[in-house]
Amino acid sequence: MRLLSPALVALLAFCQIASVAGAAVPRRVQARKENSNGLPSPRFFIISMFAPEADIWYTKLPSSGLGDLLARNISTPGLSMLYPHIHCTEDYSICQVTTGEAEINAAATITAVVLSHRFDLTQTYWMVGGIAGVNPKLGTLGSVALSRYVIQVALQYEFDAREMPDNFTTGYFSYGTYLPNQYPTTIYGTEVIEVNDALREIAYTFATQANLSDNEEGAIYRAKYVPEGMPYAAATQKPSVIKCDSATSDVYYSGTMLGEAFENTTRIWTNGTGAYCMTAQEDNASLEVLVRMAIEGLVDFSRVIVMRTGSDFDRPPPGVSAFEHLRVLDQNGFLIAIDNIYNAGVAIATGILSNWECTFQTGIKPTNYIGDIFGSLGGQPDFGPGSLTNGTGFLPGGQSTGVFRRDAEGNVRGKMMGSKTSRSIAGAH
Ligand SMILES: *[C@@H]1O[C@H](CO)[C@@H](O)[C@H](O)[C@H]1NC(C)=O
Ligand SMILES: *[C@@H]1O[C@H](CO)[C@@H](O)[C@H](O)[C@H]1NC(C)=O
Ligand SMILES: *[C@@H]1O[C@H](CO)[C@@H](O)[C@H](O)[C@H]1NC(C)=O
Ligand SMILES: *[C@@H]1O[C@H](CO)[C@@H](O)[C@H](O)[C@H]1NC(C)=O
Ligand SMILES: *[C@@H]1O[C@H](CO)[C@@H](O)[C@H](O)[C@H]1NC(C)=O
Ligand SMILES: *[C@@H]1O[C@H](CO)[C@@H](O)[C@H](O)[C@H]1NC(C)=O
Ligand SMILES: *[C@@H]1O[C@H](CO)[C@@H](O)[C@H](O)[C@H]1NC(C)=O
Repeated sequence: MRLLSPALVALLAFCQIASVAGAAVPRRVQARKENSNGLPSPRFFIISMFAPEADIWYTKLPSSGLGDLLARNISTPGLSMLYPHIHCTEDYSICQVTTGEAEINAAATITAVVLSHRFDLTQTYWMVGGIAGVNPKLGTLGSVALSRYVIQVALQYEFDAREMPDNFTTGYFSYGTYLPNQYPTTIYGTEVIEVNDALREIAYTFATQANLSDNEEGAIYRAKYVPEGMPYAAATQKPSVIKCDSATSDVYYSGTMLGEAFENTTRIWTNGTGAYCMTAQEDNASLEVLVRMAIEGLVDFSRVIVMRTGSDFDRPPPGVSAFEHLRVLDQNGFLIAIDNIYNAGVAIATGILSNWECTFQTGIKPTNYIGDIFGSLGGQPDFGPGSLTNGTGFLPGGQSTGVFRRDAEGNVRGKMMGSKTSRSIAGAH
């Protein structure tokens, strides 16, 4: 865990003093946020996946003074038919879109938003705000997790466990390998995505200011994990803000065995840095789109926050079957998880918007590698077999004309033509 740099603490403290001083003066109606071409330039873009995650923002945001997301409804080709509008506050400082659930919907919707060219998104902060299954080793019902890594855990071969070899501990094993718990040797590119850890630390600081919702019914289910002792101690606590990573899978898996298998996948694919605590169905897809769009300079990938709140445990407590846990018993985490998307999310939004001029407009410089397993945005990934472009990143407009593939020994075949322009993609690496 990295602490906020003293310089940043000082910077934010200065901003807070400035905004407190400003509060004595009646606030002017904020000017419409737009760029020099007259395109709206949202400062904070919320990505929701289905209606309950979105409705909480429509209902509650007006009371925060940050605006009403139903003030502007914008349609553009490629959005989900169930969620056919992008919603923005009157001044466009905050926008929100609902992708529809699972990876295909998420990728299609975020692509449609960016390629609509209805917005200037180069300074926009993105926040995935959704509910998720929570790993009882790291969190509980209502926990708010801020992730550094997103892992597409089901991007693997799978045998039904009844047909797997005796030496397998799970039916899942990485592409190109012969046994579970190996690093994949065939790589599709979306296995792991890493976001700006310095921004995550700031978002964490903001989110911890929030009062999180909790309920007695959830506490009753949490208590069922007590007999397991230390490994599940986190499950038995009240919800809090935590820092751990998010798995993506279209398959809504549940149970101890798959939970443990994907803990291993996360640890191995992030070369030991990632810790799996939330499971959902979209994040890698949304982030893959933002990586591709960052190559073109349309978004800034150093401005991405992944926040998931625990609505249900990914595996049963002792003495409860996987089936009962998933389909019969009510864990009562859903409502507090939805509430906490807003509670923590609005604290993050407020922190970013009220410190815009002094801190966030110019961006938070990442201190870790950011991007995908290919090294698409430049720099050397701290996971996986290394950059496909020798650290330079891919050029926009299809100008990277080499064929980038690894041979059987894992060496990159193909070479980079031309060099990266001085365009600032992601703060710096
Ligand atoms: C935007 O759509 C919502 C329903 O989704 C509606 O309640 C609201 O009035 C619309 N806003 C405008 C400005 O038309
Ligand atoms: C999915 O997201 C995780 C966590 O952000 C990331 O580690 C992983 O690389 C992503 N995978 C893909 C395929 O985008
Ligand atoms: C695992 O079992 C398979 C099938 O029996 C066998 O072919 C393979 O060599 C075994 N792998 C190891 C590492 O023992
Ligand atoms: C959290 O709750 C406390 C006690 O009720 C209250 O004083 C504080 O203002 C609340 N904070 C927020 C951010 O709502
Ligand atoms: C996960 O990794 C641990 C430690 O390497 C190993 O003991 C365990 O069998 C693995 N679990 C699965 C499901 O592969
Ligand atoms: C990650 O682990 C794999 C498998 O052990 C290894 O080949 C690769 O070089 C490691 N990558 C980094 C960045 O440490
Ligand atoms: C990769 O980059 C290093 C230093 O950045 C350079 O020395 C080396 O020649 C480059 N390799 C290739 C194949 O371009």
